[in-house]
Amino acid sequence: MRIDKLLANMGYGTRKEVKSLLKGGGVRVNNEPVKSPKTHVDPEKEHVTVMGKTVEYRKYIYLMLNKPGDVLSATEDPHDLTVIDILQPEDQIFEPFPVGRLDKDTEGLLLLTNDGQLAHRLTSPKKDVGKTYFAVIDGEVTEEDVRSFSKGVELDDGYVTKPAELTILKSSNESEIELTITEGKFHQVKRMFEAVGKHVTYLKRVKMGDLPLDEELDLGEYRELSDKELEYLLTITNLQD
Ligand code: URA
Repeated sequence: MRIDKLLANMGYGTRKEVKSLLKGGGVRVNNEPVKSPKTHVDPEKEHVTVMGKTVEYRKYIYLMLNKPGDVLSATEDPHDLTVIDILQPEDQIFEPFPVGRLDKDTEGLLLLTNDGQLAHRLTSPKKDVGKTYFAVIDGEVTEEDVRSFSKGVELDDGYVTKPAELTILKSSNESEIELTITEGKFHQVKRMFEAVGKHVTYLKRVKMGDLPLDEELDLGEYRELSDKELEYLLTITNLQD
């Protein structure tokens, strides 16, 4: 990788700023001063310093966001704020993207990473990673709905969903439920309830596999995944080797 790209990616300034840093002699690779921005380095093998301090290279970033209900799960949009817009610039530098999509009005657990392989595996229907949602439903959710969801329901386009686990938390004319699905069809939870004649009025993702949303995170807040959380995701998607 070019040294100017590496340093810009690691937050040492824009490519232009990095160029003058190099020119000024502040950058060394394996203790040799490097002045040309075109110099190629292998950040995993070579020792790079800026003003005598080691550049801690990292390729991937893994973030857990408590998505608010007014931002898009996209990397850019001409009209709306996206989940990338609300990250700090030092995290945006890594060019993360959302793992799967939540509707604009859906809140809760959204992972953001620049690790394409992990993102792909987490969203692949083959991997069967459960996504658990809390929802408020306009209408009384019944045991019959639980049975229908456990078999799979037919959506408006004729698609029959995979079995899903519905738990009724509160059943009244405004019910509260938890639902775990292993696929991610467009508006899936909302459409599954429409299939049984009910309407989702609030939706929040609370878990992916056994990884819960950190309830310490307020809406719009995020943090890096812990090593243990990341290891868990790598394990369930068989990426360990
Ligand atoms: N199902 C939905 O209907 N919307 C979401 O955002 C996620 C799952």
